[in-house]
Amino acid sequence: MEPRTIIEPFRIHAVEPIRMSTRDERLAAIRSAGWNLFGLHADDVLIDLLTDSGTGAMSRDQWAAIQHGDESYAGSPSWYVFLEAVQELFPFRHVIPTHQGRAAERILFSALGGPGHVVPNNTHFDTTRANVEATGALAVDCVIAEGRIPALRHPFKGDMDLDLLDRTIREAGPGNVPVVFVTVTNNSGGGQPVAMANLRGVRRVCDRHGIPLFLDACRFAENAWFIHEREEGYASTPIAEIVREMASLADGMTMSAKKDGLANIGGWLAMNDDGLAARCRNLLILTEGFPTYGGLAGRDLEAIAQGLREVVHEDYLRYRIRSTAYLGDALDDAGIPVVLPIGGHAVYIDARALLPHIPPTAYPGQALAVALYLEGGIRGCEIGTVMFGAHPDGTETAAPMDLVRLAIPRRTYTQSHIDYVIEVVRHVAELAPDLRGYRIVDAPTQLRHFTARFAPLD
Ligand code: F0G
Repeated sequence: MEPRTIIEPFRIHAVEPIRMSTRDERLAAIRSAGWNLFGLHADDVLIDLLTDSGTGAMSRDQWAAIQHGDESYAGSPSWYVFLEAVQELFPFRHVIPTHQGRAAERILFSALGGPGHVVPNNTHFDTTRANVEATGALAVDCVIAEGRIPALRHPFKGDMDLDLLDRTIREAGPGNVPVVFVTVTNNSGGGQPVAMANLRGVRRVCDRHGIPLFLDACRFAENAWFIHEREEGYASTPIAEIVREMASLADGMTMSAKKDGLANIGGWLAMNDDGLAARCRNLLILTEGFPTYGGLAGRDLEAIAQGLREVVHEDYLRYRIRSTAYLGDALDDAGIPVVLPIGGHAVYIDARALLPHIPPTAYPGQALAVALYLEGGIRGCEIGTVMFGAHPDGTETAAPMDLVRLAIPRRTYTQSHIDYVIEVVRHVAELAPDLRGYRIVDAPTQLRHFTARFAPLD
């Protein structure tokens, strides 16, 4: 028989307790956190869907690999294990380990950014945008128009708009565009994949202008799975081979191993350009560490290497993508507006559509995220006007979308946890007309969503 139920391809080996809480306890907790979910003590959260980054469960074999960790400052055997595992999938000449993805971004954009420069991406993730802008360069999103319409179905909604990319480069002047980025999968645009054909198209545009192409490859395996399932010609191609083909179209990458590295910490920067690599290594030594550990312990390097071997396994990816869709499909069936089709690592609720009475500058995503916490102890993440509405010149505008992301940590929650999440979201959707917006009481100038304090509007 062809089973309909796709089971978790693992058994549970160690468990972590979840502390139950009441609505009153949660009200006290969120109030003292300034109505910002990042400010909570995680013990006060029942189901933590804030992020899929570093929050997954490691496997038995990863914990075993940790025992092989060698903590030599230079030339550790663990470094060579890591290097081999990375280059097996991404055969770039230079691999530079970093403590996480944003460190790779900071180093690369310190080397390539600066005032007058423009960096196109399908959609910049928040830290990527912030690291581009911190150098004085401009970050421009060039995702296809379909990628900005939450309810519209498209198999590769993370694709780059090639005409818009070309126009962006011509307007900036190719000499002012040091690199073009493609984020796979497109996190801020709904966890949506990018087709191989689109990557080839981006490559052609880059070649025409003589600009290097880099992947923000955090969720490369999930992207490869979507190519395997949706793009003609890849149904029988092994995932690792699809990943290598994606890599072959690029000149380098940034990576957070906290996602598809299946690790709790780590990342890297990789590239073929010798001169750029030398500059990046010098910056690495300044703040991260020697180039054979880059801010990581040897044991972290071992855990990542083993994670990279596990993440391209078809049984894992089938379960992973199906279990995310299980949540998304249930919300869609209940009439709750979600980004369609369901992405790889998260379900994105369209808060602007669910709460049409709250204008973007009163933060409908924040209102929904707080309600999910209050009613059910679920912690999601606003991806909207709080995260992207403030600009370097001090102005504020509505973000393209106001979403709440429910990110699914890898191999961590069971189907009954997710059934509970579905129940809570449905309950909150019934309360929607009564939810109120928020105002920001206090916020830093950059990446304000992490530390802003809010107050509910009357
Ligand atoms: N790029 C993308 C597409 C990301 O999603 C992230 C992190 C980063 C870069 C930065 O990596 O966290 O290791 O420094 N995303 C997490 C999230 C935080 O919740 O989506 P990092």
